[in-house]
Amino acid sequence: MSLIISIFTAAGINQQSKQLMLKNAFQITEGLAKQSVYPILSGSSENASDAIKQVTGFQSVIAARLSIDNNETFLTEGNPFSKSDLTSLTQTSVIQEVDNYWLIATPIKVIDTPLENQDSQFGFGEDESKDSASELIIGFAEVLYSKESLLQTQKRITLIISTAGILTVVILSAILNAGLTSLFAPLHQLATTMDEAKTSGEHIFAEVKGAKEIRKMAKSYNNMMKVLDKQDDDLKLHRDTLEKQVEIRTKELILARDTALSASRHKSEFMANISHELRTPIQSIIGYSEIVVEELELEGNFDLIEDMDKVARNAQRLLSLINSLLDLAKIEAGHLDVHNSTFTLTELAATLSDTIAPLAKQNNNIFIVHNECDLNEVTLDKDKLEQALLNLLSNACKFTDEGHVSLTISNEKSLIRFSVKDSGIGLDPEQQQYIFDAFRQVDGSQSRKFGGTGLGLAITKRFIELMKGQIYVKSNINEGAEFTIELKV
Ligand SMILES: Nc1ncnc2c1ncn2[C@@H]1O[C@H](COP(=O)(O)OP(=O)(O)OP(=O)(O)O)[C@@H](O)[C@H]1O
Ligand SMILES: [Mg+2]
Repeated sequence: MSLIISIFTAAGINQQSKQLMLKNAFQITEGLAKQSVYPILSGSSENASDAIKQVTGFQSVIAARLSIDNNETFLTEGNPFSKSDLTSLTQTSVIQEVDNYWLIATPIKVIDTPLENQDSQFGFGEDESKDSASELIIGFAEVLYSKESLLQTQKRITLIISTAGILTVVILSAILNAGLTSLFAPLHQLATTMDEAKTSGEHIFAEVKGAKEIRKMAKSYNNMMKVLDKQDDDLKLHRDTLEKQVEIRTKELILARDTALSASRHKSEFMANISHELRTPIQSIIGYSEIVVEELELEGNFDLIEDMDKVARNAQRLLSLINSLLDLAKIEAGHLDVHNSTFTLTELAATLSDTIAPLAKQNNNIFIVHNECDLNEVTLDKDKLEQALLNLLSNACKFTDEGHVSLTISNEKSLIRFSVKDSGIGLDPEQQQYIFDAFRQVDGSQSRKFGGTGLGLAITKRFIELMKGQIYVKSNINEGAEFTIELKV
């Protein structure tokens, strides 16, 4: 801004000095014209020379020329210069302007008065005669005026003003810079503190200084840091409390787990130990009841035989229940291992048929075995597989009345499949979800009607899983059921 003002000021002053100089040149030219009236009228080149020499005495006047009315040169002083047509010139004017000079011309006038005023024919300024007089141009005065001093003055002015402008700019910039630096330094410091806090993650406090607004910002930032500090402390406290609580809970859980584990171990050990204690008395009850039956038959006491048969049947049921419970306990305690042996499928099918045939007969079911398997011998845990299939087949016979029960053995390469299918009461999808859980039967009334404890499928599933196989059921209510066991051989 200051520079622009300087440029405009310089331009303005230069223009003014040009006008002044031009005015001066005009005055000099007009002065020459006035002083040349008499020499021209009288034709005295001596007088004219005096007048023209006075003019060329000025430093800036390069040359001067007087011409008479017909534009003929009367007298020239200084360097000759080109002639212009001045016939139409009526007042002082710049005839020619080049870089380094002006050519200024003015008409030389006399007052032409009527005859009665002849006395003052060549006078200037007599007011009473002017009214009736007219001006007569008798010649022209020309001055070649040098612009050198103007150019030098203009240069000087431009230099001074430009220097002043530049100095002003420099001083103002320095002042402004100092002012802004002192204003923004605290803001910069605040921003740096914030940045440091962000990168380090620590709560660094800022120095409160500088302008009012910046101090306000720093105070707000510090307050925020205080709040964060407090929150951090609270969080730390909370975390410590939480850690302590987790520690206490973990200890409690470990204790509970250890207690449970040792209880489970004790239970398994207890079950394993009492297995002999439980089985022996039942087996002896069964054995003795058979002996008693034989003796009663010999004595011919048939009334008591029936009662003794009931004792033997119930003892048998109790034995099978104890066996199931012990099996389950062993599985859960991890005491049961897989013992593989090689056997033929025909052999397996024959054993199953022998055991199941009487059961099938009880409910008038037709029992069929389909052996579609192209493997003759297999290596599997025969006892567990046999027990699993017996469970499935006994269920099929139990829940089917006057229908069909079948066992199909098939294979897909090394995958062997045993399917036990019946045409009995079937199971709905919801029932299929829980029948493999221990002690779960479809409903309480069934256990009364069909008997059993709800352990058969639970044990079967665990046996199959132990053998790395799988068991699944497909069934619909009243449309029979199909239980399938898949094993890799
Ligand atoms: N083939 C089947 N058709 C219809 N329902 C069945 C069939 N097999 C099993 N179930 C249902 O699944 C339940 C569980 O069978 P699971 O063999 O586990 O027990 P259970 O036969 O009742 O008793 P347990 O086998 O211990 O003598 C049965 O009570 C019965 O409701
Ligand atoms: Mg069963």
